[in-house]
Amino acid sequence: MTDIKRDIASSYEAAAPEFTRYADEHVYRYLAEPLADSLRSVSGVVLDVASGPGALARRLPNSVALDISRGVLALNDAPDKVQADAEHLPFPNDSFAASASAFGINHFPSPERAVQEMARVSLFVALITWKRPETPYPPADAVFGVIERHCGQARSRTGEAVERMTTDVGSEHALEALLFAAGLDPTVATITASVPWPGAEGFVDYRLSMLGSLAAEADLPRLRNDAVAAVKALAPEALTWEPRLVLGLGRRPT
Ligand SMILES: C[S@@+](CC[C@H](N)C(=O)[O-])C[C@H]1O[C@@H](n2cnc3c(N)ncnc32)[C@H](O)[C@@H]1O
Repeated sequence: MTDIKRDIASSYEAAAPEFTRYADEHVYRYLAEPLADSLRSVSGVVLDVASGPGALARRLPNSVALDISRGVLALNDAPDKVQADAEHLPFPNDSFAASASAFGINHFPSPERAVQEMARVSLFVALITWKRPETPYPPADAVFGVIERHCGQARSRTGEAVERMTTDVGSEHALEALLFAAGLDPTVATITASVPWPGAEGFVDYRLSMLGSLAAEADLPRLRNDAVAAVKALAPEALTWEPRLVLGLGRRPT
């Protein structure tokens, strides 16, 4: 396993309870909706790649959860769970009706390899990720500012690496190229999701659940208080969050 893959896995391992409680509960459950909609016509089992605690799988009637982090999988209540690397799927060809990944593709050092694997084990591949460049969102900028003040930097080394990978795959062109290179007919689109405002505390807890190794360097209660105050100081119209996402679907040609 590469160093960055190990760092990402251990970062999610460490953050699993907070990620599940705040990120999954306040944000990812809404962001997974468009991907779940694109899978509605699939009959059969869907492989949920980089399943996390299960925001996507909870919307699917029949799925198998796969994630590299054992701690994350422990908090996923899917009946069938597999701890494995998305770039090396431990299944024979054509094992699933579809394979899907909600915000997983931006965590894989070789997204090409992961999509090839997804295309090998299923006829249909569905991906969703953040669109880059990101539309500025004042609450996120406010929290980043406070983290930077407290920790000297806004992102950990692992967070920086994930951000770079997110930029690399965060366009229609990038998802289309990945699906095409895996031998699939791609259909891609930029869409807008709507995340209900979880309150200043909820939003800050979501952002801090992904603080990673910086958490060790910070006085977390003080950081949290400052971040909540910074978000509460924003005008109500700055709180609406409609992030842009890229949805990519690929079908094996008949
Ligand atoms: C943002 S979360 C995904 C959210 C989730 N799909 C959902 O719908 O709630 C990213 C997940 O990718 C997993 N992950 C990162 N690298 C991976 C890899 N190489 N193979 C499988 N899972 C990986 C992490 O453990 C983490 O659970």
